[in-house]
Amino acid sequence: MRILSGIQPSGAFHIGNFFGMMEPSIRLQDEGEAYYFIADYHALTTIQDGEQLRQNCQEAAVDFLACGLDPERAVFFRHSAVPEVTELSWLLSTVTPMGLLERCHSYKDKIAKGLTASHGLFAYPVLMAADILIYDSDVVPVGRDQKQHVEVTRDIAIKINELYGEGLLKLPQPRIREAMAKVPGLDGQKMSKSYGNALEIFGPEKPLRKKVMRIVTDSAGVDEPKDPEASLIYQLYQLFAGESDQQRMADEFRQGGVGYGDFKKRLWEAYWEYFAPMRARREELLQNMDYVDDVLRQGADKARELATSVLGRVRHAMGL
Ligand code: ADP
Ligand code: TRP
Repeated sequence: MRILSGIQPSGAFHIGNFFGMMEPSIRLQDEGEAYYFIADYHALTTIQDGEQLRQNCQEAAVDFLACGLDPERAVFFRHSAVPEVTELSWLLSTVTPMGLLERCHSYKDKIAKGLTASHGLFAYPVLMAADILIYDSDVVPVGRDQKQHVEVTRDIAIKINELYGEGLLKLPQPRIREAMAKVPGLDGQKMSKSYGNALEIFGPEKPLRKKVMRIVTDSAGVDEPKDPEASLIYQLYQLFAGESDQQRMADEFRQGGVGYGDFKKRLWEAYWEYFAPMRARREELLQNMDYVDDVLRQGADKARELATSVLGRVRHAMGL
């Protein structure tokens, strides 16, 4: 089984990224041949400062490695280190109906907000399809918001196969862990870098603690019984705590007698504790950037070899 996923280096990763994409990808690296990349080509649709993008890519690589991506088991690289993917993107675009892209939420949302979209943003799902198809990927671990893009990938692959030969491109499956598919942000909406509601994986202790302690709650008093399922505090706590701790918090919500401030403290401790080993690993990596660069270089060589061979097959079938 070949597993592939990518993540944009568009800013500090948050716990939605972690539970929706990074941790499931890290788990899957034991189950097959994994290819994971930092999607810098994609990030160009939002970051238009070269130095910033370079820096974000390095940070994203460090953070993913710190979280447990193991370069002995997974091929890890920068998207732009495999420029063959942009050629496949062009080939795919020749069979992609405009209507298919017009329906994609990344583009639709931007238009709905009255923003002007670049051609790059419009064509983004075609590049994403190329990312997936160029490695003959079977499984794509992502959060729920990326499901549509994997479906578009399948549609494009089916079209190519109809025109140029059955089996030319492998049809991928999205892999979505439903329980973690949509981690809520501090305002209860989907957590996202762009909504200002994110809890980062890494960051200085004080501001992160403040974010947790400032979670808005209803006005139920200490003694009143509370509904754990309706509480953001409990929802987030479930991500970090073991079963018995979860059960204890849920019981205490229902019984009353404990105030939201105490629950928040418990959430904060569980969250800070959860990422402690990763924070330590990250500090080590930051002292060893040559190692990180080497990992990405070696990953790129491997990825490029496979990409070149799949691209060659498609070029030939299409008459180039
Ligand atoms: P953001 O919305 O913060 O910009 P991205 O769109 O870059 O995040 O998403 C990167 C990966 O993380 C994708 O696979 C996406 O599905 C996943 N992801 C992002 N936010 C969440 C969330 N709140 N819950 C679960 N998965 C998420
Ligand atoms: N579009 C994805 C995101 O914004 C990132 C991405 C690019 C990706 N190419 C991919 C994810 C291929 C999975 C497979 O999060």
